[in-house]
Amino acid sequence: MARKASVDSAALALAAAHGQEQEAVYIYEAPVRLWHWVNALAILVLAVSGYFIGSPFPTLSGEASSHYLMGYIRFAHFAAGYVLAIGFLFRIYWALAGNHHAHQIFVPPVHSASWWDGVIHEAKWYLFLAREPRKYVGHNPLATLTMHFVFIWVIVFMIFTGFALYGEGEGMDSWQYRLFSSWIIPLFGQSQDVHTWHHLGMWAIVCFSLVHIYAAVREDIVSRQSIISSMISGWRMFKDHRPPDDGH
Ligand code: HEM
Ligand code: HEM
Repeated sequence: MARKASVDSAALALAAAHGQEQEAVYIYEAPVRLWHWVNALAILVLAVSGYFIGSPFPTLSGEASSHYLMGYIRFAHFAAGYVLAIGFLFRIYWALAGNHHAHQIFVPPVHSASWWDGVIHEAKWYLFLAREPRKYVGHNPLATLTMHFVFIWVIVFMIFTGFALYGEGEGMDSWQYRLFSSWIIPLFGQSQDVHTWHHLGMWAIVCFSLVHIYAAVREDIVSRQSIISSMISGWRMFKDHRPPDDGH
């Protein structure tokens, strides 16, 4: 896999050196793309069902025995919670097994001054303060930074706190209780504190998603490379012939 990334890099560098057009580079492998869309769907179900767990319907018409609405909502939440958690474990595995781009959001190069320069330039570009965006084969540095700190760590937090709450329902003999609830609930104080932090985590994910989708659509239109279609087909296409700035 690493070899493939270096073949991509070499092909790009060669094409750039000869002033040739680099039509497309295959960056997001099928498992990353599949995970991305399954994960997005799971988060949609989790945020909607989670919102209603936090603010349940005050009343429902008819006999209580004739409906099971909150039960179904909680079931949807727990099922999507398992999909999210198992999907995330798989994504960690693929960060190790996949190509160069598969581990990009897990290990942002925070020691690199030129990468930070890229973060600042992208921030200016998003704020309409830079005239031209840079050209990236992988994620741009600001996207990498945000996906690492506002996505990965918040998802880890949601999985840990979610399973801590789930373990309470499963009982003290369950693996969920032993692995998560037994230390997370005392760490936060008591169960209601875990509920509150888990709930706040949802708003962090909602904010991330809003900004992420806005940026994906915006960059699809104004950046120098393809964006949304790359997360569907896996291929990055370029709108000009100049060499990319991330050297991949
Ligand atoms: C992006 C991921 C997630 C979001 C946005 C989310 C959102 C929420 C929200 C808003 C609540 C209501 C909290 C409250 O005000 O009391 C909640 C409760 C809960 N969540 Fe999540 N959650 C996520 C992931 C998970 C995961 C991975 C699990 C593990 C199975 C999980 C299990 C639970 C449980 C057990 C409850 C409490 C249910 C109850 O008290 O009836 N959540 N979640
Ligand atoms: C309509 C909804 C969505 C669209 C159109 C979309 C689009 C995209 C695109 C185009 C990329 C690649 C960006 C690039 O090449 O630099 C991407 C990556 C990513 N998106 Fe989304 N996204 C959506 C929903 C979500 C949601 C809800 C989440 C999670 C909260 C999410 C999390 C991520 C992550 C973590 C990556 C990095 C993928 C990786 O490198 O493994 N996306 N998304």
